Amino acid sequence: MESLDTIKEKIINLQDEIKKYSYYYYSKNESLVSDVEFDKKLKELEELENKYPEFKAENSPTITIGSSLKDTKFRKITHKRPMLSLTNSYNIHDVIDFSERINKLLNYKNDKLCYALELKLDGASISLQYEDGKLITGVTRGDGIEGEDVTENIYAIKSIPKILKEKITMEVRGEIIFPKSKFIKLNEKRLAEGEDVFANPRNAASGTLRQIDAQVVAERELDAYFYFLVDAKKFNIETHSESISYLEKLGFQTTGVCELLTSMNDMEKRILYWENAREALDYETDGMVIKLDNMNLWEEIGYTTKSPRWAIAYKFQAKQISTVLMGITWQVGRTGKITPVAELEEVELSGSKIKRASLHNTDEILRKDIKIGDRVFIEKAAEIIPQVVSPIKELRNGSESVIDAPINCPSCGQVLEREEGLVDLKCVNPICPAIIQGTIEYFVSRDAMNISGLGSKIVEKFLKLGYIKDVTDIYNLKNHREELVELDKMGEKSITNLLEAIENSKKRSYSKTLYALGIQYVGKFVANLLAKKSKNIDNLAQMSVEELLTIDEVGNKIASSVYEFFNTEKSLIIVEKLKKIGINFSYAGFEINEENYSEENETNKHKEDDIFIGKKFLFTGKMTRFKREDIKDIVESLGGENLSGVSKKLDYLIVGDDAGSKLEKARALGTVTILSEEEFINLCGDKIKI
Ligand code: IVH
Repeated sequence: MESLDTIKEKIINLQDEIKKYSYYYYSKNESLVSDVEFDKKLKELEELENKYPEFKAENSPTITIGSSLKDTKFRKITHKRPMLSLTNSYNIHDVIDFSERINKLLNYKNDKLCYALELKLDGASISLQYEDGKLITGVTRGDGIEGEDVTENIYAIKSIPKILKEKITMEVRGEIIFPKSKFIKLNEKRLAEGEDVFANPRNAASGTLRQIDAQVVAERELDAYFYFLVDAKKFNIETHSESISYLEKLGFQTTGVCELLTSMNDMEKRILYWENAREALDYETDGMVIKLDNMNLWEEIGYTTKSPRWAIAYKFQAKQISTVLMGITWQVGRTGKITPVAELEEVELSGSKIKRASLHNTDEILRKDIKIGDRVFIEKAAEIIPQVVSPIKELRNGSESVIDAPINCPSCGQVLEREEGLVDLKCVNPICPAIIQGTIEYFVSRDAMNISGLGSKIVEKFLKLGYIKDVTDIYNLKNHREELVELDKMGEKSITNLLEAIENSKKRSYSKTLYALGIQYVGKFVANLLAKKSKNIDNLAQMSVEELLTIDEVGNKIASSVYEFFNTEKSLIIVEKLKKIGINFSYAGFEINEENYSEENETNKHKEDDIFIGKKFLFTGKMTRFKREDIKDIVESLGGENLSGVSKKLDYLIVGDDAGSKLEKARALGTVTILSEEEFINLCGDKIKI
């Protein structure tokens, strides 16, 4: 026989457990346990509470979530046509690949295909059946094969037509959404009533749609937009855009956004436009949907098991996701700045796995009240570097620990300093190994001297062995060839490659070599600007702060920093040595577009490079607009890579006049996108100025 205390404890534990599951289910759309398991726990709690009503709390989940979760036993209906999903893409390149795939599937017989660009609504998808113009059923997507019959709730949504303007039998698909303007009010009400809040309008839409009480649906004022007419061809419609107009004519609400585009350049522009403009809409969008407009071609192009090949989703970067903060690593940057880096339980955010995130500085940790062990929200800042946004304090259980700022440099042990009025902790030891290592890693990085083969482990080793003391010693490594070959895992081949990369780096463009010097506030784009204006490093070194300030986009911070650099003995010695070594410090010809550059935030610019990142390029034939070396530089500056021959790895072959066997070979592979020089320039868009 269990004691009353044990029973009470059991009830409290069950209540807490179920509340947690329900929180995840409603707020994060995440099931921590299966439905069966959940129901079992809820039933167990219900039985115990019935037997021992004295332990039944007022806010027990048997009361608060009883109606919404336990009873979601809607009738299941099999879709007449499966509700497919869409392949996701995350950059314009994927969209270009998608259109290329379509061209290929159609044997390149269609000249200029037309694509419809639509908003991707972030709500709950729905399929409606009309018979003789009357609304008969409304079914959720479910698993795509069968969904839940939510007809009654659909009737409670005002903007959905119950009777169509024409007496036709048809099926239409769209999205039930929760208006952003009503979302905050809903959560306020739920909080006041002791219920869990919805994490976002999508959860609110799907949660509301599954309400048993249609009255609640009516009160919450859900809305709906439609984007797909099933079997449109039976209404003699040939294009998707016409089908949307027809839906509007029948009385359906659409977003009004169905833009017809034939060029991928325009496609990119419009996607970028909507990525900003969507903020003003009263519904959430998580991307764009691109559909081939001509429906007569759909069958020929076909389907994968899950999605059509004639449509693709372009997903905007996901905003936030939650994960556990396991610990903090204090990183020493090349400037001596100490940055706390969050070590996270691995999660996926818009296509990439994330284990670490930036926390900027100790003040930010305090301000956000973040503790080790917290579940935290993370997001991608400027859409590249993940950052910790905030802890979820409601989920704390007392085991979380406070984060203490370090007193000493984690690398050299010197006591850290904090400049007056500045929030950053700094190591000011000029021979701090972490600072030297950071400077060298920055110097050899892809955007700077692009010396591959000098990763952080190797740099560390070379520093320890005394082969390198500063960046200039990299160019003496060739004198240690024999010793290097002997080093573990560094065979003959990799040393040859490394030494070759080091020699090649001497020819890097002036903007890259200037960037490599690591002058504070001189990122890629400022380096370009300075290179173009100064023409060579001697001129730049002579410039006064006033002269520097006359350069467009150069503000006080940059001007002072550049001036200080060239008036410091230590940097002048390095520059002189590099000049003697033969590093190029003269401007050649083209520049990366510096539009939109903000002095405060260089990372703004980097996100735009994404379209080239990791892609492999090769040029063949005579180029008319660029010198070969310059065009290769453009590729590298934008994050791409130049290959020397056609292989399966190649993404783009840019073809000039009198192209030969490389073109044939690339065509035969079938996986390479072939572009003319003009098309390549288009691909660069406004990233370059010629
Ligand atoms: S078309 C066969 N168009 O996205 C293609 N879907 O990831 C049918 N969605 O399940 C879908 N906005 O819930 C289409 N303009 C739009 C959309 C859209 C949102 C949703 C829909 C679908 C999911 C696919």
